[in-house]
Amino acid sequence: MNFPRRTFLIGSAASLAAQSSAQIPTAVIGTGNRGSYLLSGVMDQSNAKVAAVCDIKPDRLDKAATAAAKHNPQTYTDWRKIIDRKDIEAVFVATPPHLHAQMAVAALQSGKHVYCEKPIGVTAAQVRDVVKAARSTKRVFTAGQQMRSYKQLNEAIRKIREGAIGDVLMVKAQRHATADIAHDGTSGDWYFDVSKSGGYLIEQSVHNLDLCNWVIGAHPSKASGFGGIQMYKNDPPGRTIFDCSLLNFDYTNGVKMSFTQNVYHPRTLPSGGQYVYVYGSKGAVDLITTTMMHPLSRDAKPVALAEKAEESRHAHITAFYDAITKGSPSPADITIGATAALTAILGHEAMVKQTVVSWKDLGVDVG
Ligand SMILES: NC(=O)c1ccc[n+]([C@@H]2O[C@H](COP(=O)([O-])OP(=O)(O)OC[C@H]3O[C@@H](n4cnc5c(N)ncnc54)[C@H](O)[C@@H]3O)[C@@H](O)[C@H]2O)c1
Repeated sequence: MNFPRRTFLIGSAASLAAQSSAQIPTAVIGTGNRGSYLLSGVMDQSNAKVAAVCDIKPDRLDKAATAAAKHNPQTYTDWRKIIDRKDIEAVFVATPPHLHAQMAVAALQSGKHVYCEKPIGVTAAQVRDVVKAARSTKRVFTAGQQMRSYKQLNEAIRKIREGAIGDVLMVKAQRHATADIAHDGTSGDWYFDVSKSGGYLIEQSVHNLDLCNWVIGAHPSKASGFGGIQMYKNDPPGRTIFDCSLLNFDYTNGVKMSFTQNVYHPRTLPSGGQYVYVYGSKGAVDLITTTMMHPLSRDAKPVALAEKAEESRHAHITAFYDAITKGSPSPADITIGATAALTAILGHEAMVKQTVVSWKDLGVDVG
């Protein structure tokens, strides 16, 4: 396989230092909402250069080309032309979810480093393909699960690992919204089609489920649950994504997790929004909102597990380039990206099949 020169040199500190002033030629495929944000993140990096942008929609492509004008990127409507360009070393994939796997696999196989938006696939087979390509090509792979780069979360989870709440026993998490994603055409034109987005659980809750996996330190062994289209029946017309999920997960290390998702939690009803309550033998913590630890002992007062941190807007993107240039670990590597996607897929399959589904039935070895 013909790898670009810089990536071929990874592993040698001297070589990396010698290359560190170079700007990594980068392409962004899919320049919609998220792709535009990623593009601005790439522009923010001193060690990156936007060499190409790609979108099938001319208006999106023009907008991206204008935003990146100072790098003078080439524009494409056919993403395979980017794969064919030998000079491009890093690719961001921000297309609708069902396209991620084929694009990520092709980019990895052509020797490029890949930042792939979450979920990395919407089926177990897609995830398996990305795992295989990432493992065999050994390029840097980063899933767009940017919470992995939040300082406050990293500190809180490190303290939990060190025993701050005792043994982790159970997690109760939710992602509730006050409204459905917009029906006026401003949402992705792929979103309401479950075969393209995977549905709320796979497309959005993958972030929350990743956080659960992270703090539990394992992946689920099985899942059960129910879901459906409870409120937005055929709204918008042809809708195939659920608006409600109620799930239970049993983890390989014995931790139990329950997760709910809906899009009709009134603003004034308590306990809305998102939380990840982690219950341990000494106390509990809500990871998403405050990272305060609430001790079990009757008289003890809550204490901060991690100080509120100023999170850098593009920390996850910087970490991706650090992994390329400095050999530091990818903050959301293939194991993390695949495990998060598969956790969501496991939950989705349990709801669709209305039975208990085992992790091993997904047939993907995440390593
Ligand atoms: N990490 C996060 O927090 C976060 C936030 C928002 C979205 N996302 C993810 O980013 C991805 C994109 O979401 P979005 O909201 O930007 O959607 P979007 O619809 O705004 O953008 C997707 C873009 O991909 C383009 N596209 C479709 N098919 C293509 C193809 N074959 N070749 C090239 N371009 C193609 C579309 O024209 C569109 O411009 C999704 O996977 C979503 O889950 C992640």
